Amino acid sequence: MTTKPATANTRDSVYGAANLAEVADTGEHVVPDLPQEPVIEATDLNVYYGDFHAVHDVNLAFGRGEITALIGPSGCGKSTVLRCLNRMNDLVIGARVTGAVTYHGQNVYGPKVDPIEVRRRIGMVFQKPNPFPKSIYDNIAYGPRVTGMKVDNMDDLVEEALHSAALWDEVKDKLKQSAYGLSGGQQQRLCIARTVATRPDVILMDEPCSSLDPIATSRIEDLMLEMRKDYALIVVTHNMQQAARVSDRTAFFTARPDETTGNRTGLLVEYNLTNRIFSNPDDSRTEAYISGRFG
Ligand SMILES: Nc1ncnc2c1ncn2[C@@H]1O[C@H](COP(=O)(O)OP(=O)(O)OP(=O)(O)O)[C@@H](O)[C@H]1O
Ligand SMILES: [Mg+2]
Repeated sequence: MTTKPATANTRDSVYGAANLAEVADTGEHVVPDLPQEPVIEATDLNVYYGDFHAVHDVNLAFGRGEITALIGPSGCGKSTVLRCLNRMNDLVIGARVTGAVTYHGQNVYGPKVDPIEVRRRIGMVFQKPNPFPKSIYDNIAYGPRVTGMKVDNMDDLVEEALHSAALWDEVKDKLKQSAYGLSGGQQQRLCIARTVATRPDVILMDEPCSSLDPIATSRIEDLMLEMRKDYALIVVTHNMQQAARVSDRTAFFTARPDETTGNRTGLLVEYNLTNRIFSNPDDSRTEAYISGRFG
């Protein structure tokens, strides 16, 4: 077992590398060159909004025990790709997806797949904390209740979810109070707890810290690092430092204008280990973006 993240991204080195992401004895987080046994894979993913081709041919694999950052300039399709992974785009009128997204090998767009179940297993946290107008307790209990999850003891589940989101100590004496009484950073951790409560193994986060101050941001980043071992975390961020601080892998997207229509279609430029993306990227467009010369 190596204790340093591998940097070469060749097939040979992939199969010679550690099988699964894990924490080495030194405490350093080790990830293989490519996700092994990916939890989610997007294959030849294309997304259209009506006639507009928003995202072109994306291929990505996401591993358990890893944090993946999706970065790139505004409009390059990061949120669009994220929403495809748990069929959130089904809720957008006019959106159409081609290609495949598999979750543990099963196509989430398959004819017999229930999109509600997909969203329970692949949870999502949004840019702006969006607690329900309910008590802290009921925010957490809501998902398990409406999805008909079998729960032996709801109090225990609520406590466990709040612990997972590092919020328990701050709210344990006011569980019946409105979630609106919490600070923005606490509300975002509540939203993470709410997501965790339905026992997903993938959590999608779309700019989860962009409405938070640096202290609240730092708490969420710490939380992401704590949660990493149990989940595949996929995070859209415009914050390069955040991507570099928390993620194991980074996918860089850009948008290319169509020669005839001028419409800008998003595409994946480079997907690699984060330390590679930020130190020695393969593509000059990645280099230009991360060094602030573009986008
Ligand atoms: N509901 C929609 N209807 C039509 N077009 C849309 C819709 N949502 C997104 N788009 C378009 O798809 C493209 C990709 O948008 P998307 O929101 O995925 O980009 P993004 O990379 O997340 O941008 P940002 O960093 O600004 O959040 C953009 O051109 C956008 O205008
Ligand atoms: Mg977005």
